Amino acid sequence: MTFQLVRASENDLPFIMATERREGYEAFVGRWDEARHRRALLDDSHAYFLGISDSLPIGFVILRGWASAEFVTLIKRIAVVAPGQGQGRLLLAAAVDRVFVETDAYRLCIGLFPDNHRARRAYEAVGFTAEGIARGSAFFNGVHRDELVMAQLRPEWEKRQSG
Ligand SMILES: CC(C)(COP(=O)(O)OP(=O)(O)OC[C@H]1O[C@@H](n2cnc3c(N)ncnc32)[C@H](O)[C@@H]1OP(=O)(O)O)[C@@H](O)C(=O)NCCC(=O)NCCS
Repeated sequence: MTFQLVRASENDLPFIMATERREGYEAFVGRWDEARHRRALLDDSHAYFLGISDSLPIGFVILRGWASAEFVTLIKRIAVVAPGQGQGRLLLAAAVDRVFVETDAYRLCIGLFPDNHRARRAYEAVGFTAEGIARGSAFFNGVHRDELVMAQLRPEWEKRQSG
């Protein structure tokens, strides 16, 4: 099995939009229309990546605050086509490496709904630590929802490289 993390382009939007719209994902992940994705893709503060395994896309990651002046980057959205098979972990680990290698980010964070146990487990496996609940931080399908904030800092990532 080969795996590569590549920058996504406008041609990849149909895949990204289909993936975020997969059945069952509506409880966990936001969905943008094409115009919203296009704006983000063209905006320097966002970076879109695709995971490619054996020449096929397996999932995507959208980062916000790429190379930000505050040295803080957010994983805005991540989803894989086939969850629970280790692919999200692979994709996320590659995205984490990309952030710390290609930018000066100090903090990389992600917000998830506290009942998304599968996501939490995958994030912990690639070095994220749960920090606490940000009350009402997501406006999701018309409802203000709490989010669990998870993050990893550059020194933690560096330690993982040497360990
Ligand atoms: C979140 C996501 C990217 C993680 O990727 P993934 O490929 O499913 O993750 P992995 O298979 O690498 O790891 C999942 C872990 O959760 C565990 N798991 C699976 N279902 C679970 C459940 N219902 N409850 C608790 N743990 C669960 C798996 O056993 C695995 O842990 P383990 O390897 O230690 O046993 C993927 O599940 C996804 O796209 N989900 C839908 C969209 C989403 O939730 N996006 C994130 C929004 S913040």
